Amino acid sequence: MIAIRQVHPVFVGEVSGVDLTRPLTKEEVAAIEAGMDRYAVLVFHDQNITDDQQMAFTLNFGAIENAKGGNITKDHEYRLKQGMVDVSNLDKDGKPLARDDRRRMFNLGNRLWHSDSSFRAIPAKYSLLSARTVANEGGNTEFADMRNAYDTLDAKTRALVDDMVCEHSLMYSRGSMGFSELTEDERAMMKPVRQRLVRTHPVTGRKSLYLSSHAGNIVGWLVPESRDLLRDLNEHATQRENVYIHRWRQYDLVIWDNRQTMHRVRRFDETKPRDMRRTTVAGDAMTVAQAEAA
Ligand SMILES: [Fe+2]
Repeated sequence: MIAIRQVHPVFVGEVSGVDLTRPLTKEEVAAIEAGMDRYAVLVFHDQNITDDQQMAFTLNFGAIENAKGGNITKDHEYRLKQGMVDVSNLDKDGKPLARDDRRRMFNLGNRLWHSDSSFRAIPAKYSLLSARTVANEGGNTEFADMRNAYDTLDAKTRALVDDMVCEHSLMYSRGSMGFSELTEDERAMMKPVRQRLVRTHPVTGRKSLYLSSHAGNIVGWLVPESRDLLRDLNEHATQRENVYIHRWRQYDLVIWDNRQTMHRVRRFDETKPRDMRRTTVAGDAMTVAQAEAA
């Protein structure tokens, strides 16, 4: 029987009583979805799964998101099969990327608070991350509950942000890390999209702040004033009491709802392999209509 125990004062559940290497029953899938709606992040321990098993498990929650346009890695450089997102520090031969490798520079953007795929017009629903080889030290993933972040805003700020729309792009998150040397093709791939700043969960009806390092400005606002407000909101959302720190053990699998949380990875020794493999459940709708092409 699936059981879920809350492990943080405001969100995050630890799941027991399920083996993710096997096909799940309808009841098990429903219990996990209900747990996701309630806790926004679910942790499963001791799940030694293959890529195929991870993809099969992922499909219980929707279609797998097309990863195209989410990275600067070239087709011939991929280590993992289609459907898997490689968030390791490894090249195709399983060796840690060189310090000055562009792919490493790009991936350092994952150290910023973000919501996966907020740079896509239809952003992701869930992300599922499987720890195959963990860092000896560091490499924690931190999560922030964006429902609680919204609920704890003062009334005036809530009224201010309720109908705001932001522009998101990988160019903004990478640019804020000082990584701005992009080819014409990469720039074209990173064309900004619009996202609502406050979104409503389709099942629970709870509102959440939809922030991400990919958000670069607020529609109708000047860039510096946009960034000022976004920084302030990010600071509010990521206060320690609103954050859960996941210390990875080998074969942990963590699912998070990108519609209700942000996350970031912390530093680790990048000379050693850290093999983390993600699958992403596609979202089903835009949060707001996109601007007409100019
Ligand atoms: Fe991420």
